[in-house]
Amino acid sequence: MTNNSPIGIFDSGLGGLTVVRAIREALPREAVIYLGDTARVPYGNKSPALVLEYAQQITDFLLSSGAKMIVVACNTASALALEALRKTVEVPVIGVIEPGVETALKATLNHHIGVIGTIATVSSGSYETLLRKRNKTVKVISRPCPLFVPLVEEGWLEGDVTTAVIKHYLQPLNQAGVDTLILGCTHYPLLKPALQEQVNPGTVLVDSAEAVAAETARVLDKNGLRSDRSEKGTFNCFVTDLPARFETVAGRFLGTGLAGIETVHLP
Ligand code: DGL
Repeated sequence: MTNNSPIGIFDSGLGGLTVVRAIREALPREAVIYLGDTARVPYGNKSPALVLEYAQQITDFLLSSGAKMIVVACNTASALALEALRKTVEVPVIGVIEPGVETALKATLNHHIGVIGTIATVSSGSYETLLRKRNKTVKVISRPCPLFVPLVEEGWLEGDVTTAVIKHYLQPLNQAGVDTLILGCTHYPLLKPALQEQVNPGTVLVDSAEAVAAETARVLDKNGLRSDRSEKGTFNCFVTDLPARFETVAGRFLGTGLAGIETVHLP
């Protein structure tokens, strides 16, 4: 492993590509290797033990591909597996929850924060625990939004059905008067325009991708792991299944076309 080894990033599927995009924009000289566990998505309705097992398998794959650092670009895996991975892995490991929490605490004026995520992320209480640890006076209301992931995967980012689902899920958060809403799932940033229309005016939507990119840079510097290459870093994308329309949907997350995707079978 050298400074020019890749940053390993993973998600249950394609949502983590929103984090890849932010990291590649902020750190263009870094090489990135991404694995989307498309054969087993979604993680959000699976048990903590199974999500941990999947996260360990993927981390082993990324490390055997030479990753110098791991970014868990999935809220569900960050909530359920991050601490365990940190104990067993020798390279730095970061997740998406802490950067999102820091951003939300900086943004809120009324100290009333909403969190939306998968059933597993919300049930884990990870966001609430960390928010309250950082600020004892903060009020938190969390709601699972299980229909958002399939809507995003299908590309239904707007329209009557999507608006109706968003209204249904956001109603209690609007009623509670949150002024900051954490998008606690890497799929949700694609719904940002539609979500922004349905939240109370002035509500800040926190997409942790940019904060994760900043944290990645900080951790690389702290560990002396910044790439010293002068050209743009490469991007290698692996999936555990290559569904039809993958490239179209992946392009939506990444904001650009995607070529040379490889399929890998995890043990
Ligand atoms: N990308 C995952 C997350 O951030 C959501 C999709 C899933 O349920 O696997 O939690």
